[in-house]
Amino acid sequence: MIRKKAARLRCGLQAGLLLLLGTTLMGASAQGDAKRGQYLANTGGCVACHTEDRKDAVPFAGGRALKTPFGTFYGPNITPHPQTGIGRWTEIDFIRALRQGDRPDGANYFPAFPYPSFTRISDGDLRDLWAYLQTLPPSSRPNREHDLRFPFGWRFFVTIWKWFFFSPDPFVVAAGSTKIVNRGAYLVQALGHCSECHTPRNFLGGPQRDRFLAGGKGPDGKRVPNLTPTRLKKWSDGELKEFLLTGATPDGDAANETMDEVIRNTTSRLTAEDLAALMAYLRSLPPLADEPR
Ligand code: HEC
Ligand code: HEC
Repeated sequence: MIRKKAARLRCGLQAGLLLLLGTTLMGASAQGDAKRGQYLANTGGCVACHTEDRKDAVPFAGGRALKTPFGTFYGPNITPHPQTGIGRWTEIDFIRALRQGDRPDGANYFPAFPYPSFTRISDGDLRDLWAYLQTLPPSSRPNREHDLRFPFGWRFFVTIWKWFFFSPDPFVVAAGSTKIVNRGAYLVQALGHCSECHTPRNFLGGPQRDRFLAGGKGPDGKRVPNLTPTRLKKWSDGELKEFLLTGATPDGDAANETMDEVIRNTTSRLTAEDLAALMAYLRSLPPLADEPR
């Protein structure tokens, strides 16, 4: 009698423990890893566009002016403040913003927010990014309205822009490429959004896909170099690595401010493996002629 009771109790305890273990594991897999998210936020250069350009600015609290031929955009506050930031968002709102370029209320984001690249970020990486943003101290810094030329301020027009130029497809692994080159492709195409500056655009601000990373005019209208081997083959691996870590060019110049920021926030902070992968991918690109001046 007593033995039976003890057995039943043990059985119940075991089941309880299993249940507990199961829910803990499920919880761990459902929630992103904030520490990894921080690394991914560096790789995405999020802080650059979402932090005011002055000393003592609160990181991610918004206010950075982004000048484009269409007007000036101001990166919004993405700290978890309930009124001024994204504190009331759900993870689903966040994923929709980066994947689809849609606001929680359904309106379009302007593609000055590089969601045409971010749409290729993997599910796991998006969850880790979200987990990281939630660890930031909430800032009450209010957002500033974009200052756009007529009629580019109409979010409705972005629907047409998206129709022509935006394809929210996941990142695809190239079958013929090595694992390293594919990792580099993911870093360049998705999180690193290098093509947002290094791919030329047409007069509507749409990227010219057949000229991928061939350089031309950047988002601010200034010239940006070709990243395909046409130009970069002149640099040894050591020189390219040095540039991506420090901004120093083989002929003793320094990267200008725009690229310097990418180096500071992103390429100089990559793990050695990720940096090697990024370089291997650039080396593997089909060579394209420079844009005519
Ligand atoms: C090149 C500049 C740029 C970079 C880099 C950038 N963003 Fe943004 N982001 C913007 C702009 C501009 C907007 C506002 C777009 C609009 O109002 O339509 C925005 C909007 C957002 C929003 C919506 C905020 C709101 O209040 O609606 C989120 C969330 C966001 N970005 C997250 C990120 C994350 C995460 C990263 C890094 C992976 C990142 N951004 C990198 C420019 C950038
Ligand atoms: C915000 C715009 C912007 C983004 C994003 C950007 N770049 Fe650049 N990049 C530039 C500009 C501008 C230059 C020219 C710098 C100069 O002339 O000093 C440049 C120069 C370079 C060069 C030197 C090429 C040469 O021949 O001089 C390399 C290599 C490079 N970028 C790689 C990258 C990679 C890799 C990424 C993505 C992780 C990236 N860039 C993202 C704007 C950008």
